[in-house]
Amino acid sequence: MDRIIRIFDTTLRDGEQSPGCSMHIEEKLEIAKQLERLRVDVIEAGFAVSSPGDFESVSRIAETVKDSMVASLARALKKDIDAAYEATRKAAAPMIHTFISTSPVHMEYKLRMKPEEVLERTREMVAYARSKCPNVEFSAEDATRSDPAFLARIITAAIEAGANCVNIPDTVGYTVPEKMAWLIRYLYENVPNIDKAIVSVHCHNDLGMAVANSLAAVTAGAGQIECTINGLGERAGNAALEEVVMALATRRDYFGATCRIDTTQIYRTSRLVYGIVGVPVPINKAIVGANAFSHESGIHQHGVLAERTTYEIMTPESIGLTKNRIVLGKHSGRHAFKERVEELGYNLNDEEINKFFEEFKALCDKKKVVSDSDIEAIINNRLTTKSGVYKLVRFDLQSGNRVKSMCTVELERDGETFEDVALGDGPINAAYNAIDKIVEAPERKLEDYSIHSISGGEDALGEVVVKLRSGKNLVTGHGLSVDIMEASILAYINGINKLVEMGDRYDEDYEKN
Ligand code: KIV
Ligand code: ZN
Repeated sequence: MDRIIRIFDTTLRDGEQSPGCSMHIEEKLEIAKQLERLRVDVIEAGFAVSSPGDFESVSRIAETVKDSMVASLARALKKDIDAAYEATRKAAAPMIHTFISTSPVHMEYKLRMKPEEVLERTREMVAYARSKCPNVEFSAEDATRSDPAFLARIITAAIEAGANCVNIPDTVGYTVPEKMAWLIRYLYENVPNIDKAIVSVHCHNDLGMAVANSLAAVTAGAGQIECTINGLGERAGNAALEEVVMALATRRDYFGATCRIDTTQIYRTSRLVYGIVGVPVPINKAIVGANAFSHESGIHQHGVLAERTTYEIMTPESIGLTKNRIVLGKHSGRHAFKERVEELGYNLNDEEINKFFEEFKALCDKKKVVSDSDIEAIINNRLTTKSGVYKLVRFDLQSGNRVKSMCTVELERDGETFEDVALGDGPINAAYNAIDKIVEAPERKLEDYSIHSISGGEDALGEVVVKLRSGKNLVTGHGLSVDIMEASILAYINGINKLVEMGDRYDEDYEKN
C-alpha cells in the first residue's frame, strides 16, 4: 500500500515572514479556511510570541479550523512555548513547533551556545512543550549544514523527550537532492528511536531545488513535507505545495506515496493567496502559472486535440481549473449565481452569497459579460478591499493633460466620515495625496504600484497592487474595480489599513535565540 505523506503548510508563517507578504488577521483566517478545504494536514498559523497580532491570528485560526492540525512556531524558550500553547490550545488538534539551530555556524554566531548546551536545551524544551501539548514538532534549524552525527544525537534526544515529528530543514536552500536523500537515510540508520516520530523536511529554494530536495527526501523515507502556496517564503521561498502535491499525484508510480490533499482546490488556493498577498505568480510557473496548461504551438495543439496525453501529463481540471466560460449576465438570478459559485468550488453560506450577488449585480451594470475569473476575483478580493479601519465612501476627480489633477476623497472610520482634497502629478498621485491628508497611519512610502486586467476586453476588471513601506514593514495593498482609479484608491487604502493594524506590533528580533 502507498504511504501517505503529511502536508504541512507554512504559508501563514514562513510565507508571511518574507518581505511584503504580511497579512491582516481576517486575511490569514480566510487563507486558513481555504487550506482546510484543500485538506492540508497541518496549518502553521504563525509565530505566536513574535507579536500580539500574530498571537491573535494563531488563536483565531485555532478556534476556527477543525479538520487540520493548527501549529504555532516557538523558539526553544519557555516564553515562546507558553505563547504557542496559549494560542493553539483551543484547536481541535493543536501543535507546538519548536526549533533550535544545530549547524556549527548558527550555534557559534547566532546562538553563541556550545553543541552540548543546544542538546540539553532541546531535551528540556521539547519535554516542556510535550508536557503542554500532545503534538510536538522539533526542527533542527540549518540541519543540512549540521554535522550528521550531531544531528542524529539531537533528533534522538528530541524524540526521547516527546517530539512526535522531527523536521530536517534546509534553512538556506543549500543542499541538493542526492545529499538530502542521503541525510534522511542516515538518520533512519543512526537514530535508534526514529520509528517513534514522523520525519519531516522543510526546504528553501535558494538554488531552485526546494521541491526536488523535498521529493528526494520522500524517496528516502520522509513522511511529511513542509511547503507553501505559490512557493512563498523567506528569500527565494519554500517548496511550493502545488508542485510537491502534483508531483506525488502524477508520479505515484515512482514515489509509491500519496497525500490527503484535494487537488481540485489547488488553483483556487493559489489565486486566493495571490489576491491577498499580491505577489504575482510567474506565467510559466509549474502547476498554477497562467501558461501551465496552455498549448500555443500548432504541433502541440494538434497533438492534444488528437489525444490529450500527447502533451499533457495532468488535466487542468485536476487542479480545479475550469474553462473560462462566459457565465452569467445582468439577467441572471441569485439561484444561477449560487450554482455557478458552487461549480467554481466555493462553499459559501447564504449571507456570503447574498453579499457577492450584490457585487456581481453591480459588476453586471458596468461590464457586458462576467466571466468565471471575474467571479473568482470578486470572491477572492472581498477581504482585501472591504476590511480594515478606513473604508472608501467616494472620490471625485478632475484631471487632464493640461491641468494639474485634483482629487477629493471621502473615507469612513468607525462610523465617522472624513473628506479632503489634494492636487497631484496625475490622478493617482492626487488621490493618494488626499488620502494622506485624512488618514492617521504610520509614516509610509509608496514603493511599488502595478496594475493588470483580470479578464480581457475594454471593460475588464482592473487589479491594482501597491507596496507601502513604513520603517522595517513592507505591506501589500490590493484593489479591484472596473474603474482603475477606484482600484488604485482601494489598493492604497488597503495597504494603509494593514499598516494601521501593524501599528501595535512590537519589533522583537525573534531570530536571536
Ligand atoms: O527554514 C527554517 O529552518 C525554518 C524553521 C523554523 C523550521 O523555517
Ligand atoms: Zn523556513
